[in-house]
Amino acid sequence: MFDTMTVTKAGGALCGAFLIFLLGKWAAESLYHTAPAAHGGEEVAQAYTIDTGAEAGGGEAAAEEGPDFATLLASADAAAGEKVFGKCKACHKLDGSNGTGPHLDGVVNRAVGAVAGFGYSDAMAGHGGTWDPETLSAFLEDPKGNVAGTKMSFAGLKKPEDRANLIAYLQSLGG
Ligand code: HEC
Repeated sequence: MFDTMTVTKAGGALCGAFLIFLLGKWAAESLYHTAPAAHGGEEVAQAYTIDTGAEAGGGEAAAEEGPDFATLLASADAAAGEKVFGKCKACHKLDGSNGTGPHLDGVVNRAVGAVAGFGYSDAMAGHGGTWDPETLSAFLEDPKGNVAGTKMSFAGLKKPEDRANLIAYLQSLGG
């Protein structure tokens, strides 16, 4: 009788202890979530891969919007810009004569819609202002989005570097 009670108590104590151990383990795991991963080399490596991946993604996005245009322009490559101008050549000349589009001699800091004898759209004619580098860049990124109603049929230069290089090239021609 006494023995049975002792065995029963001991058994109960063991079960209770085990239950507490399980609860404690569960609590510890949910509290220190990274602890189990820290023991497995592979899991740690994977955790870092995910981390750097997210950071690199954020970094790229920041790089696209990050440096302001003046900074980009300061380090722009006019020779590379001459190649970008290949996309404009079909419509724009740099010899003072107009094609499908107005000539672009000295277009940087030129008044908008100011080429005499060119038939601008109402949108461009009524735009006002000057083509300073920022204005030019915004227009070239998305011509129809920037000057609604323009008749310049050009999809746009999405890369800020292309726009900076191109504007540096146009600037280098002076005029
Ligand atoms: C398919 C022909 C075409 C292409 C390609 C084209 N343009 Fe134009 N562009 C035009 C036309 C047409 C206008 C006049 C727009 C208006 O009046 O609305 C114009 C207007 C402009 C103006 C305004 C000029 C002013 O006197 O106010 C600038 C600046 C310009 N283009 C730059 C560029 C650059 C830089 C490229 C190349 C990245 C380019 N364009 C590509 C046809 C084109």
